[in-house]
Amino acid sequence: MRVGVLNGGGDCPGLNAVIRAVVRKGEGIYGHQILGFRHGWRGLLDGEAVELTLANTRGLIHRGGTILGTSRTNPVKVENGLARVRATLERERIDALIVIGGEDTLGVAAAAAADGIAVVGVPKTIDNDLSATDVTFGFHTAVQIATDAIDRLHTTAESHDRVMVVEVMGRHAGWIATYSGIAGGADLVLVPEQPFDIAAVCERIEHRHARGSSYSIVVVAEGAVPAEGTIASLGGEVDEFGHVRLGGISNLVADEIGRRTGYETRVTILGHVLRGGTPTAYDRVLATRFGIAAIDAAHEGDFGMMVALRGQHVERVPIADAVRELKTVDPELVEVASVFFG
Ligand code: F6P
Repeated sequence: MRVGVLNGGGDCPGLNAVIRAVVRKGEGIYGHQILGFRHGWRGLLDGEAVELTLANTRGLIHRGGTILGTSRTNPVKVENGLARVRATLERERIDALIVIGGEDTLGVAAAAAADGIAVVGVPKTIDNDLSATDVTFGFHTAVQIATDAIDRLHTTAESHDRVMVVEVMGRHAGWIATYSGIAGGADLVLVPEQPFDIAAVCERIEHRHARGSSYSIVVVAEGAVPAEGTIASLGGEVDEFGHVRLGGISNLVADEIGRRTGYETRVTILGHVLRGGTPTAYDRVLATRFGIAAIDAAHEGDFGMMVALRGQHVERVPIADAVRELKTVDPELVEVASVFFG
């Protein structure tokens, strides 16, 4: 077989571990040829490909980012996009395509599968907002990076008697904020799933300081929104998949806290730091397992499916099930975090 591989959307630690695993078993055990397409779906639109071999994918497991490059190109939004994708696959004699991505990239994969293209999906995103899998690779690393940052912010907040507002990525789900908020001992966590009332936020912080605390840590998900009728939320430009570009809500929160309570506040927006650098050991193993499972599915001709972690096992689920709706943060988890609020 000739197997194509692409990764699309935001990069994250672990992508190279998936690619390495696909090639190691695909070529090393099955004897297949593996062809990487560069820059996500754009590589298939433009026919930009690179042979992936045991030699050029050796020693990748610890490297962040992706050797293939990525983009947020959406072929469905391009005239004759899927036809151009199909034409490249035919020209390159690709028998199966492994697509590594989040809701957007795999949404295109689901459309391609429905159009008869032989695809296997691998769930990737630091946001962990993809349905049908317990977790996506990249998430664990982002949570660790955020937690390490929050740990550091405790000491400087305490030294200055400040309220430190920390913004984390996660788009419209609060998984990173909730996990890193619990792990980092945050005093408040604001998530998109529960619009916040800034007056209640300030009350919690004042209550905490009245009980003798001299500083607070507030973790804010970039997609957090003010409750209706409280304060105005942010706007922003839209990408090719219709997502508003997020970032900056923490400035609004910090300004309001400072103005209403009189406490000194500072903001740290972790942003793309959460997507950089080497994957944790957990993500290296999960990404490797996903890569092996994906090439197995392609080898067996089990298309239209996504490999997924269910409990301790990697299983196959229809790609359509993964992209049908956003996996928002479990309310039970937010409940656990709230025990430590204020
Ligand atoms: O989907 C992953 C993610 O990091 C989101 O958490 C974030 O909102 C978005 O990508 C940022 O996109 P870009 O890297 O295109 O700015």
